[in-house]
Amino acid sequence: MAKRPSVQEILEAARRGGPAKPAAVPESAPAAAPIEEPTHSEAAEVAPAAPAAPARPAAPAGPTPSSLGRPLTLKEKLAAARAGGAAAAAPAPSPPPTPSAPPPAAEAAGSEATPARAVPPPAKPLGRPLTLAEKLAAARGGGGGAAPAPAAGPAKAAPAAKAAAATTAGAPRTLPPLDKITDPKDLAEALRQTGARKDREVAAEKAAAAPARPAAKAAPPKPSTVLPKPGKPGAATAEAPDHSSRRGFFLGPLFVTWIALAWTSFAAGVLAFTGMLGRFMFPNVLAEPPSTIKVGEPGKFDPEDVNERFKAEWGFWIVRSTRYDGQDIIYALSTICTHLGCPPNWLAGEQKFKCPCHGSGFYVTGINFEGPAPRPLERFKVSLADDGQIIVDKSQKFQQELGQWADPDSFIAV
Ligand code: FES
Repeated sequence: MAKRPSVQEILEAARRGGPAKPAAVPESAPAAAPIEEPTHSEAAEVAPAAPAAPARPAAPAGPTPSSLGRPLTLKEKLAAARAGGAAAAAPAPSPPPTPSAPPPAAEAAGSEATPARAVPPPAKPLGRPLTLAEKLAAARGGGGGAAPAPAAGPAKAAPAAKAAAATTAGAPRTLPPLDKITDPKDLAEALRQTGARKDREVAAEKAAAAPARPAAKAAPPKPSTVLPKPGKPGAATAEAPDHSSRRGFFLGPLFVTWIALAWTSFAAGVLAFTGMLGRFMFPNVLAEPPSTIKVGEPGKFDPEDVNERFKAEWGFWIVRSTRYDGQDIIYALSTICTHLGCPPNWLAGEQKFKCPCHGSGFYVTGINFEGPAPRPLERFKVSLADDGQIIVDKSQKFQQELGQWADPDSFIAV
């Protein structure tokens, strides 16, 4: 089984222009040409492209874009660079390259690798074979990179290639589709451009959607379902108040109810005060008992007797006696002592009225005879009703000292 060539072998083969051969055969190892160790700068420049080189041996002559119908891959460009290195690796038999006449092999390789633009010839003859970095730069189109200045050395080829890349990166490049990109830098650039394009699309969508928001807000408001205030028939046709919240919907009528209740209470208080004032201005009618009372027929009263049934309630005695002037009469004596108004008591055993306050004594006829009482007891008017009953009228009094007991209204003859 053939051993895969190493990186050094591939580089050496690229310099020589031939395909890489593995150095695993012991017999051919001594016969192989001594491998020229690349300088530190060359190794640093080649390092990114080195892993792709040993993957498969490069073709002796690289394919052309016209033959493939697609852009050259990095590997194909590397193969083309190898072909150019082979031409440059043998400067002795061919004349040194000049600015006007580039090496035929390099020109052929350059024309095949980059058909769109020809690789310019080096400015000065190098006097040495081109390094791999220089070849790569020449293959990518950086014409100045393929002709490094002899005085600057190979280490200055990298800045020249970077400057060339910078000049091309200043303007947006046209990249092939993502599935056909093999260069990591191109792939990164394509991804960056794709991301930027998506960002622009998102920004454009946001800008297009931004004016739609005011249109959505300008939708017609929902109709309000607020009911009119109760107790106002005229307000049914008027415009209903705008209660923006449910709390206002419930608290509004409640607040109105409280105000109506307060005003009602105030009006009731005013009316009550007015009534009490009118009652005060007009005095009450005295709820006194009637001044006349029927005490019964004259035959119900016993002779020489004092009836005390009406003393407590009406304040008089009904007396039937013949002791005043020998005539059997009925009269009504007041129960008020003529001294200071105390009610005397009837003492049936002593046949006298005795005042408990100061000891005044009155006969059954009402004439005072002891104590401080200055005058006899008073009589009330008596008369006979249509039904034959005796009517006592307390509104009229008869005094004995005034001779009023002789009045026929002061007694009833039996
Ligand atoms: Fe009757 Fe004074 S009140 S004696």
